[in-house]
Amino acid sequence: MEIISIIIFVLIFVLLLAILLATAIFLVSTVEMIFIAKVPFVPVPKMVLPEIIEALKLADRSILYDLGCGDARVLVEAARVSKYSKLSEDSKSSKVRFIGIEKVALPLFLAKFRIWRSGNSSNILLKNKNLFKEDLSQATHIFTYLLPKAMDDLLPKLERELKPGTRLISCDFKFSNKEPTEIIDLKRNKKLGSFLYIYEF
Ligand SMILES: C[S@@+](CC[C@H](N)C(=O)[O-])C[C@H]1O[C@@H](n2cnc3c(N)ncnc32)[C@H](O)[C@@H]1O
Repeated sequence: MEIISIIIFVLIFVLLLAILLATAIFLVSTVEMIFIAKVPFVPVPKMVLPEIIEALKLADRSILYDLGCGDARVLVEAARVSKYSKLSEDSKSSKVRFIGIEKVALPLFLAKFRIWRSGNSSNILLKNKNLFKEDLSQATHIFTYLLPKAMDDLLPKLERELKPGTRLISCDFKFSNKEPTEIIDLKRNKKLGSFLYIYEF
Protein backbone atom coordinates (compact mmCIF):
# COMPACT_ATOMS: atom_id res chain seq x y z
CA MET A 1 0.00 0.00 0.00
CA GLU A 2 2.77 2.35 0.93
CA ILE A 3 4.63 1.66 -2.34
CA ILE A 4 1.51 2.49 -4.35
CA SER A 5 1.20 5.81 -2.49
CA ILE A 6 4.83 6.61 -3.24
CA ILE A 7 4.38 5.78 -6.97
CA ILE A 8 1.25 7.97 -7.14
CA PHE A 9 3.10 10.77 -5.36
CA VAL A 10 6.07 10.53 -7.82
CA LEU A 11 3.72 10.47 -10.82
CA ILE A 12 1.85 13.56 -9.59
CA PHE A 13 5.17 15.28 -8.93
CA VAL A 14 6.46 14.50 -12.46
CA LEU A 15 3.17 15.66 -13.97
CA LEU A 16 3.27 18.94 -12.04
CA LEU A 17 6.89 19.45 -13.07
CA ALA A 18 5.98 18.90 -16.75
CA ILE A 19 3.09 21.36 -16.48
CA LEU A 20 5.38 23.90 -14.80
CA LEU A 21 8.03 23.48 -17.51
CA ALA A 22 5.47 23.81 -20.32
CA THR A 23 4.02 26.94 -18.69
CA ALA A 24 7.50 28.45 -18.28
CA ILE A 25 8.39 27.77 -21.96
CA PHE A 26 5.06 29.28 -23.02
CA LEU A 27 5.49 32.42 -20.88
CA VAL A 28 9.12 32.98 -21.88
CA SER A 29 8.18 32.46 -25.54
CA THR A 30 5.30 34.93 -25.32
CA VAL A 31 7.57 37.59 -23.80
CA GLU A 32 10.28 36.85 -26.40
CA MET A 33 7.78 37.03 -29.25
CA ILE A 34 6.35 40.36 -28.13
CA PHE A 35 9.52 42.16 -27.07
CA ILE A 36 12.35 40.56 -29.07
CA ALA A 37 11.13 38.76 -32.18
CA LYS A 38 8.28 41.14 -33.07
CA VAL A 39 7.19 38.52 -35.60
CA PRO A 40 4.79 35.92 -34.20
CA PHE A 41 5.32 32.20 -34.57
CA VAL A 42 2.90 31.40 -37.39
CA PRO A 43 4.20 28.42 -39.35
CA VAL A 44 3.76 28.36 -43.10
CA PRO A 45 0.80 26.10 -44.07
CA LYS A 46 1.97 22.55 -44.75
CA MET A 47 0.13 22.39 -48.06
CA VAL A 48 2.37 25.08 -49.62
CA LEU A 49 5.62 23.31 -48.68
CA PRO A 50 5.96 21.52 -52.06
CA GLU A 51 5.74 24.85 -53.94
CA ILE A 52 8.30 26.43 -51.60
CA ILE A 53 10.75 23.56 -52.06
CA GLU A 54 10.28 23.68 -55.83
CA ALA A 55 10.76 27.47 -55.94
CA LEU A 56 13.96 27.25 -53.91
CA LYS A 57 15.69 25.24 -56.69
CA LEU A 58 18.28 23.70 -54.40
CA ALA A 59 21.34 22.24 -56.09
CA ASP A 60 24.40 20.25 -55.07
CA ARG A 61 26.11 21.83 -52.06
CA SER A 62 23.42 24.46 -51.57
CA ILE A 63 23.20 26.01 -48.12
CA LEU A 64 19.64 26.93 -47.22
CA TYR A 65 18.87 29.29 -44.33
CA ASP A 66 15.39 29.69 -42.88
CA LEU A 67 15.53 33.04 -41.07
CA GLY A 68 13.14 32.64 -38.16
CA CYS A 69 12.69 28.95 -38.84
CA GLY A 70 9.78 28.39 -36.41
CA ASP A 71 9.23 24.65 -36.02
CA ALA A 72 11.67 23.98 -38.90
CA ARG A 73 9.02 22.48 -41.15
CA VAL A 74 10.51 24.06 -44.29
CA LEU A 75 14.01 22.79 -43.51
CA VAL A 76 12.85 19.29 -42.59
CA GLU A 77 10.75 18.97 -45.74
CA ALA A 78 13.51 20.40 -47.94
CA ALA A 79 15.99 17.96 -46.37
CA ARG A 80 13.60 15.05 -46.94
CA VAL A 81 13.01 15.98 -50.57
CA SER A 82 16.69 16.56 -51.35
CA LYS A 83 17.63 13.28 -49.69
CA TYR A 84 15.42 11.35 -52.10
CA SER A 85 16.07 13.49 -55.16
CA LYS A 86 18.99 13.18 -57.53
CA LEU A 87 20.73 15.98 -55.65
CA SER A 88 22.19 13.82 -52.96
CA GLU A 89 22.44 10.53 -54.83
CA ASP A 90 26.10 10.95 -55.26
CA SER A 91 28.10 10.74 -52.01
CA LYS A 92 28.84 13.34 -49.36
CA SER A 93 30.06 15.99 -51.80
CA SER A 94 26.53 16.60 -53.06
CA LYS A 95 25.06 17.15 -49.62
CA VAL A 96 22.81 20.15 -49.18
CA ARG A 97 23.01 21.89 -45.79
CA PHE A 98 20.07 23.38 -43.90
CA ILE A 99 20.41 26.06 -41.24
CA GLY A 100 17.56 27.37 -39.11
CA ILE A 101 17.85 30.50 -37.02
CA GLU A 102 15.26 30.90 -34.31
CA LYS A 103 15.21 33.19 -31.29
CA VAL A 104 12.12 32.04 -29.42
CA ALA A 105 12.07 29.07 -27.03
CA LEU A 106 8.77 27.43 -27.98
CA PRO A 107 9.30 27.18 -31.77
CA LEU A 108 12.92 26.19 -31.12
CA PHE A 109 11.75 23.33 -28.91
CA LEU A 110 9.25 22.23 -31.59
CA ALA A 111 11.96 22.49 -34.27
CA LYS A 112 14.28 20.22 -32.28
CA PHE A 113 11.48 17.71 -31.85
CA ARG A 114 10.54 17.79 -35.55
CA ILE A 115 14.14 17.34 -36.65
CA TRP A 116 14.64 14.47 -34.21
CA ARG A 117 11.40 12.83 -35.42
CA SER A 118 12.44 13.17 -39.06
CA GLY A 119 15.52 11.02 -38.39
CA ASN A 120 17.39 13.20 -40.86
CA SER A 121 19.23 15.54 -38.54
CA SER A 122 22.82 15.20 -39.72
CA ASN A 123 22.66 18.06 -42.23
CA ILE A 124 20.17 20.32 -40.37
CA LEU A 125 21.66 22.83 -37.95
CA LEU A 126 19.55 24.93 -35.58
CA LYS A 127 20.91 28.13 -34.11
CA ASN A 128 19.22 29.80 -31.16
CA LYS A 129 20.20 33.27 -32.38
CA ASN A 130 18.82 36.59 -33.51
CA LEU A 131 18.59 36.47 -37.31
CA PHE A 132 19.63 40.12 -37.54
CA LYS A 133 22.94 39.30 -35.88
CA GLU A 134 23.95 36.15 -37.75
CA ASP A 135 26.48 36.15 -40.57
CA LEU A 136 24.60 35.08 -43.71
CA SER A 137 27.49 35.14 -46.16
CA GLN A 138 27.57 31.33 -46.53
CA ALA A 139 23.96 31.10 -47.71
CA THR A 140 23.14 30.15 -51.28
CA HIS A 141 19.40 30.04 -50.60
CA ILE A 142 17.22 31.80 -48.03
CA PHE A 143 13.64 31.30 -46.98
CA THR A 144 11.69 33.90 -45.00
CA TYR A 145 8.18 34.10 -43.61
CA LEU A 146 8.44 37.31 -41.61
CA LEU A 147 6.50 40.60 -41.73
CA PRO A 148 6.94 43.65 -44.03
CA LYS A 149 8.79 45.69 -41.37
CA ALA A 150 11.19 42.82 -40.60
CA MET A 151 11.79 42.29 -44.34
CA ASP A 152 12.67 45.96 -44.82
CA ASP A 153 14.91 46.00 -41.73
CA LEU A 154 16.68 42.92 -43.09
CA LEU A 155 17.33 44.15 -46.62
CA PRO A 156 20.48 46.26 -45.97
CA LYS A 157 22.08 43.33 -44.13
CA LEU A 158 21.22 40.95 -46.97
CA GLU A 159 22.64 43.36 -49.55
CA ARG A 160 25.85 43.65 -47.54
CA GLU A 161 26.39 39.99 -46.80
CA LEU A 162 24.90 37.76 -49.46
CA LYS A 163 26.97 36.33 -52.29
CA PRO A 164 25.86 37.35 -55.79
CA GLY A 165 23.32 34.83 -57.06
CA THR A 166 21.83 33.98 -53.64
CA ARG A 167 18.18 33.12 -54.08
CA LEU A 168 15.64 34.28 -51.50
CA ILE A 169 12.05 33.08 -51.32
CA SER A 170 9.72 35.07 -49.10
CA CYS A 171 6.28 33.79 -48.34
CA ASP A 172 3.56 36.47 -48.44
CA PHE A 173 5.73 39.50 -47.63
CA LYS A 174 7.91 41.48 -49.98
CA PHE A 175 10.60 44.13 -49.62
CA SER A 176 9.31 47.61 -50.30
CA ASN A 177 12.61 48.65 -51.93
CA LYS A 178 13.52 45.62 -54.06
CA GLU A 179 11.66 44.12 -56.98
CA PRO A 180 11.08 40.36 -56.98
CA THR A 181 12.32 38.51 -60.06
CA GLU A 182 9.20 36.38 -59.94
CA ILE A 183 5.93 36.20 -58.02
CA ILE A 184 4.20 32.86 -57.64
CA ASP A 185 0.49 32.97 -56.90
CA LEU A 186 -0.31 29.88 -54.84
CA LYS A 187 -4.03 30.39 -55.52
CA ARG A 188 -5.00 30.19 -51.85
CA ASN A 189 -7.72 32.81 -51.98
CA LYS A 190 -6.09 35.28 -49.56
CA LYS A 191 -5.36 32.65 -46.93
CA LEU A 192 -1.93 32.46 -45.23
CA GLY A 193 0.69 31.33 -47.69
CA SER A 194 -0.84 32.94 -50.79
CA PHE A 195 2.24 34.24 -52.61
CA LEU A 196 5.91 33.44 -52.98
CA TYR A 197 8.19 36.38 -53.79
CA ILE A 198 11.44 35.32 -55.39
CA TYR A 199 14.54 37.50 -55.22
CA GLU A 200 18.04 37.14 -56.67
CA PHE A 201 20.83 39.03 -54.90
C1 LIG B 1 5.94 33.64 -39.12
S1 LIG B 1 7.04 32.55 -38.27
C2 LIG B 1 7.68 31.58 -39.62
C3 LIG B 1 8.26 30.26 -39.19
C4 LIG B 1 8.86 29.40 -40.31
N1 LIG B 1 9.84 30.14 -41.08
C5 LIG B 1 7.79 28.89 -41.22
O1 LIG B 1 7.69 29.41 -42.33
O2 LIG B 1 7.04 27.98 -40.84
C6 LIG B 1 8.40 33.66 -37.91
C7 LIG B 1 9.41 33.07 -36.95
O3 LIG B 1 10.53 33.96 -36.89
C8 LIG B 1 11.00 33.99 -35.55
N2 LIG B 1 11.74 35.24 -35.38
C9 LIG B 1 11.23 36.49 -35.43
N3 LIG B 1 12.18 37.41 -35.24
C10 LIG B 1 13.34 36.72 -35.06
C11 LIG B 1 14.69 37.12 -34.82
N4 LIG B 1 15.01 38.40 -34.71
N5 LIG B 1 15.63 36.16 -34.73
C12 LIG B 1 15.29 34.85 -34.85
N6 LIG B 1 14.03 34.41 -35.05
C13 LIG B 1 13.07 35.33 -35.16
C14 LIG B 1 9.73 33.90 -34.73
O4 LIG B 1 9.99 33.45 -33.42
C15 LIG B 1 8.91 32.90 -35.55
O5 LIG B 1 9.14 31.58 -35.13
